[in-house]
Amino acid sequence: MKHRACLMLIFLLMLTLLESASAEVIESYAILVNKTSALPSDYEPSDLTRPDVKYAPGVAESRKQMRPAAARALEELFKAAADDGIELLAISGYRSYWTQNDLYKRRLKETSLEYVSVYVAKPGQSEHQTGLAMDLGCTGYTDLTERFAETPAYAWLSEHAHEYGFIIRYPKDGTAETGYAYEPWHIRYLGDLAEDVYESGLTLEAWYARRLGESRPLQSYEFPVTELALKGLG
Ligand code: DAL
Ligand code: ZN
Repeated sequence: MKHRACLMLIFLLMLTLLESASAEVIESYAILVNKTSALPSDYEPSDLTRPDVKYAPGVAESRKQMRPAAARALEELFKAAADDGIELLAISGYRSYWTQNDLYKRRLKETSLEYVSVYVAKPGQSEHQTGLAMDLGCTGYTDLTERFAETPAYAWLSEHAHEYGFIIRYPKDGTAETGYAYEPWHIRYLGDLAEDVYESGLTLEAWYARRLGESRPLQSYEFPVTELALKGLG
């Protein structure tokens, strides 16, 4: 009996350790979330806060949130843009698993599977659930379309986002690697790593692959959260 209780205790301890290891990785600014590396449905950052920046009209309060480091960096980014005469607008930050679920279903009804498969992540597969992503626009360009890429605001963003810890996550011609179409409006906070990813000129998936020393086709990769932890990334 004593032996059994002891085994049970060890098992519970191991479970707790595993859980805290994966929570640590999920909270890492280097977390990779994509079509092959999903977040648990119950993951919600515990420290969400509202960046003090200008938002597009009608943005719901619940979508204005980011994790604190990302929020502060976004504020710096907006300030630097304003100093250069550029006004950015924030459109969509944190989205819970279930908000993403509703969005996915709604967009599927409104558009087509072909469209959503490259523009809307399935629940659990969206970076917006990490609290590290924000969709941006500028006056007259808040509809999250490629038109934003033609604006001076985007030109500024593509030149300076990395200086504040962000990357433009879904670049032009990156679909085979990222799984998504060109989204000039979606920026992702990576902290100190942003500079390196930007300088590499690679998508985040290709950058990870290089760091893991892999050369297999990226879409066949599995990047489970725990595997990243074991490899000591982030
Ligand atoms: N539009 C991006 C891929 C998302 O839904 O997270
Ligand atoms: Zn986005």
